[in-house]
Amino acid sequence: MAHRIALVPGDGIGNEVLPEGVRLLDHLAAQTDGLAFEYTHLDWGAERYLRDGVSLPEGAIEWLQSDIDAIFLGALGDPRVKGQQHARDILLGMRFKLDLYVNFRPITLLDARKCPLKNKGPEDVDIVVFRENTEGVYTGIGGQFKRGTPDEVAIEAEMNTRKGVERIIRAAFEYAEEHGRKSVCMSDKANAMRHGHDLWQRAFKEVASEYPAIENFHLYVDVLAMELVRAPERFEVIVTNNLFGDIITDLGAQIQGGIGLAGSGNIHPGKVSLFEPVHGSAPDIAGQGKANPLATFLSAGMMLTFLGHPELETRIQNAVQQTLLADEVTPELGGTLTTSQVTDRVLARL
Ligand code: NAD
Ligand code: IPM
Ligand code: MN
Repeated sequence: MAHRIALVPGDGIGNEVLPEGVRLLDHLAAQTDGLAFEYTHLDWGAERYLRDGVSLPEGAIEWLQSDIDAIFLGALGDPRVKGQQHARDILLGMRFKLDLYVNFRPITLLDARKCPLKNKGPEDVDIVVFRENTEGVYTGIGGQFKRGTPDEVAIEAEMNTRKGVERIIRAAFEYAEEHGRKSVCMSDKANAMRHGHDLWQRAFKEVASEYPAIENFHLYVDVLAMELVRAPERFEVIVTNNLFGDIITDLGAQIQGGIGLAGSGNIHPGKVSLFEPVHGSAPDIAGQGKANPLATFLSAGMMLTFLGHPELETRIQNAVQQTLLADEVTPELGGTLTTSQVTDRVLARL
């Protein structure tokens, strides 16, 4: 049976990297008995929003839930749309309404030479971040009062629910247990944020006590940022909230070699889930064939594991790694190849 995949290239370089990701999937399908994909191409993004005002179309969520196994997305964000309303509607809309509570973001250094940290290698940079993906400060709860006056007030509330905090922490421990990882670090800012992050502290202690074989420790997020640079080898699994997870995974992207190498999954186990590179639409390089497609390939690999083919993810990771080691890369990594030439080299190694 074919896996039903919704394709959302989105904006900017999303339109350059996602088609390369589809080439990769097609290549694997042609090589693998019984593997097939049935695509639905979706035009959700800035172009359509500017044309007819539609961001996430009506009924889209219900359709994704009933007819689609996984969503494969490029990026959303366009300088022509002030405030990026369409991107929030589409990307955060899917994360929230499909309840994709696990933002799974590995930080894996595949090529030692790409690490900007002195004397650190692949054995030191091998981390998985579990970012809470459905609440925190991203929900839009809050408001503005006396906007545009000297007395203006703007409130952005951070929402933390017991259920939401507990399930992402549990997902991190489950992953550690299943993948032989020895520790889970929880990061918050409980010293300054005493309501929500006190909830994180208590939930972490309680869930951790159910996994006595896995070491647990806590760092405030400012210290986590410092430690990721000083001693990334301290970390195997990190669990944190929505905003902190966003920030530390861009930091993580750099210590794994660059933002063009960071893939991610937005997952609700057992339900339709979404896979995308961590990077954005990169308007500064869009349309020039310079976008690195490797983060998209690694995201495709995560999608294949989610769909029940972990051996294909391993093959993708190996092909990506060999391509990096051969210096067959795009300009931001010092190479001279275009987006689709990098794909050619990866496909040749599969
Ligand atoms: P960005 O990730 O798009 O770009 C940051 C820098 O990294 C730029 O210099 C860009 O050229 C470079 N870069 C990013 N991806 C690259 C790739 N694959 N290959 C080579 N270089 C790459 O971040 P930004 O500039 O802050 O955001 C641009 C837009 O994208 C904004 O509207 C933002 O909100 C949006 N965004 C969307 C997502 C998403 O869809 N998941 C993620 C991040 C940002
Ligand atoms: C990401 C992005 C998004 C986020 C933006 C576009 C809302 O930065 O996926 O990392 O903050 O989650
Ligand atoms: Mn981000």
